[in-house]
Formats: sequence, structure tokens, C-alpha cells
Amino acid sequence: MPVKHIDATIIEKVAPLYERVKTVIPDIEWPFHAPHIAAINELKKEKNAVILAHNYQTPEIYHCVADITGDSLALAQRAIDTDADVIVVAGVHFMAETAKLLNPDKTVLIPDLGAGCSLAESITAADVRKLREQYPGVPVVTYVNTSAEVKAECDICCTSGNALAIVESLGSERVIFLPDEYLANYVAQQTDIEIISWQGRCEVHGRFTAEELESFRAGHDDLTIIAHPECPPDVLATADFVGSTAQMQDYVVNKRPPKVLMVTECSMSDNVSVGIDDVEFIRPCNLCPYMKKITLANIQAALETLSPAVEIDPAVANRARAAVERMLDVGRSKMTEVAA
Ligand code: 13P
Ligand code: SF4
Repeated sequence: MPVKHIDATIIEKVAPLYERVKTVIPDIEWPFHAPHIAAINELKKEKNAVILAHNYQTPEIYHCVADITGDSLALAQRAIDTDADVIVVAGVHFMAETAKLLNPDKTVLIPDLGAGCSLAESITAADVRKLREQYPGVPVVTYVNTSAEVKAECDICCTSGNALAIVESLGSERVIFLPDEYLANYVAQQTDIEIISWQGRCEVHGRFTAEELESFRAGHDDLTIIAHPECPPDVLATADFVGSTAQMQDYVVNKRPPKVLMVTECSMSDNVSVGIDDVEFIRPCNLCPYMKKITLANIQAALETLSPAVEIDPAVANRARAAVERMLDVGRSKMTEVAA
């Protein structure tokens, strides 16, 4: 690739941001990121835009241009609070759809429409309608990692951070839980409610094996393994802690294990490690090819052109929004219980 001349004033302008990320971004790479970072931060002001970034985004996005970062639940919750006219989702398509459902009058952009998700691909609205016929009257919970069409057929959404609480909020002895088989299995282990599952899988977390983790443990007695519940059951059984990406991050920030292995997407360790120098991160990660479709270059292009924008058929959107809002209401009533 030809090396472009990089304006020294731009490098200087974003130098404080490089200070933050210098442990995870090599200095040879920074001149390629700096012009995009400077341009994006100007465009955000010009267009009254915010960037919501998932925990799996690369550090130059997560730490240098994002306004709101977090797991799927936090991004959905925080999407409601913004006064911005434009929301750019640095994440995958279902996250952008959720932001649009909660902000129907705002422009919601996803910098690459190909940023999908193997779980979202694993089930259609017609599949949900068939399950409803097969199990009449049984409430249907869908993981947020689904299309708006699928959400529209379901009673309530959940994320990896609240799946058990959502299932238990329904007051039913049986619940259909879609589409992640491993997350369904993990929830089933913690409740007496009968869980009817679907065979969806995350192609990223599904690649981890218990053998691989055991071999890391063998070399490191003081290693803490924390895993995302989309991993296979034997991987979860090997872990010391299981949680959503935000819960994994909180675990490391609060407990400061001497050595940690985060069984999840590669950028998690990079992002969490920034500013934490007393924890050693062991990194047998797997990349999510969909999350990695989002780059500084396409975020900049999205802000310049205000496209690609997410649009959802209003008939679908109204029903899908109800499923997302029911989930957020359960979270609010839990918070009220804790405060009381
Ligand atoms: P979290 O909600 O835990 O961030 O998970 C989202 C996701 O896609 C994990 O693969
Ligand atoms: Fe989907 Fe898995 Fe990628 Fe998360 S990591 S977005 S569940 S494919």
C-alpha cells in the first residue's frame, strides 16, 4: 500500500488519544488511524451524531471515536437517552436495528450492511410462527441477536446479561428460548423452568474448546478463565466465571485477577486491558468477521454521506419494539426492587 503523506498537525491533534491506546495500537499503525479519528470527531459535532460501539470493536474505534460503549444490553439502554440526531452503530446489524426500534425518528447508520451475525441468520420469522403452532400458549423469548422480523414474532427479548431474569419474569413453567442453543442450555442449568431451545450457534464462540482452555490452565496455576455464555457447555464448565461482555469486563476491572483469559472475541482483551497494567491477559481469541467489517474508514464515510441508514417496515417495527421494550421494563423493575 502506498504510504500517504500524513499531516503532522492532525497527528498532534489526536496525540492525547494515542496516549490512551498506545499499549494496544503499535505506533507504526497510528498514522493510518489518526486522520480518520480527527475527521470522525469533527463530523460528529457537525452532524450532531453519537457513536455507539460494542465491546468487540477495535481499540481505535472503541477508545478513540465512540461516545457510548458496552454490551448489547447497555447499547440498547443508552440508545434511548441520546439527544443526537444521528446514531452510528459500530457493531452488527441487529444492534443497529435495536437502536432504530428505540429511536424511530432518528437517523441510525450501520457503516457496513454486511455486518451480520451467525445467530441472527439461524432463525426466521416463519420458524418462530411454526414453533408457536407446535407449542401453543408457551411464551417466546428471543435473544437480541435476531432480526427485527424475528423479534416481531416473539413476546420479549433478552441479552446475555439478563437472559435468566427475563425467563424467570414470565411466570411460566415452560419457555421457548431462541435462537442460541448454548445460551438456552446455560439458562436451563440455573432454573426449574423448562426451556425449549433452537439450534442456533455463534460461529465465533462455538470454535473454543475445553481442551484448548485446559492446556492454558496447565501452564498457569493462577489463571482465571472467564467466558461468554455463547460458548459450548464444556467450555463454560471449564470457566471460573460466565457473563455478558460487560459482566466479563466488570469482573476484570473489579477483581483484578493476576492472569485472565477472556473466552470471547479478540478485541475484548485489547479494550479491557487499556489502563489496566496489573492484569496479564492471555489471548487465545477468535475474531468475529462481522464485527470486523466496521472500520474507521467506513464510519467516516457513513457520517459524511449519512448512509447506509437502517430502515424497518413500520408493521414489523411496532411489534419488534414491544419485545425490546418489555425487556427494558423488566430491567427497570429490577432496578426499582433493588432501590426499594
Ligand atoms: P453481549 O451482549 O454480551 O455484548 O454479546 C453480544 C454478542 O454478540 C456476543 O457475541
Ligand atoms: Fe454474532 Fe457471534 Fe459475532 Fe456476536 S460474536 S456478533 S454472536 S457471530
